[in-house]
Amino acid sequence: MKTGLKTILISAFALTLTLSGCYYDNEDDLYLGGNTCDTSNVTYATTIAPIFTAYCNSCHGGAAPSASIMTDSYENVVANMSRIRGCINQESGYSPMPKNGNKLSTCELTKVDVWIRQGMPNN
Ligand code: HEC
Repeated sequence: MKTGLKTILISAFALTLTLSGCYYDNEDDLYLGGNTCDTSNVTYATTIAPIFTAYCNSCHGGAAPSASIMTDSYENVVANMSRIRGCINQESGYSPMPKNGNKLSTCELTKVDVWIRQGMPNN
């Protein structure tokens, strides 16, 4: 009986070690993931426009854009950037965008901010 209990305790302890090992592995992956946001070559054409194409232009392009906000050209993005920035960062006082969709990733939001800090070049 006593040996049985000891075995159970040792097994439980070993299992705990195994599980916590996995937990730390996953945390390392997440940490690395957070560090792989490459903001060294952010340009309008290759970084920013594709974000709006993927998340916004379906509603904010074409003949009848929602809220009369267009996100499908450089000029339109620049003209609306202060509202756009508030909406995608889902700040209070702004409609959270993309509407009915998931918030943009931290990396995508960082890239938009990097481009704004560069002065929103048409590059
Ligand atoms: C499914 C359609 C849809 C998508 C996708 C969408 N929007 Fe909107 N957006 C709307 C509608 C409808 C409104 C007007 C109603 C409102 O404000 O919620 C709006 C309003 C806005 C406004 C004005 C509201 C304010 O608070 O200033 C901005 C700016 C905006 N969207 C930007 C974006 C951006 C940037 C994206 C992509 C990240 C996006 N939207 C994606 C439908 C959409």
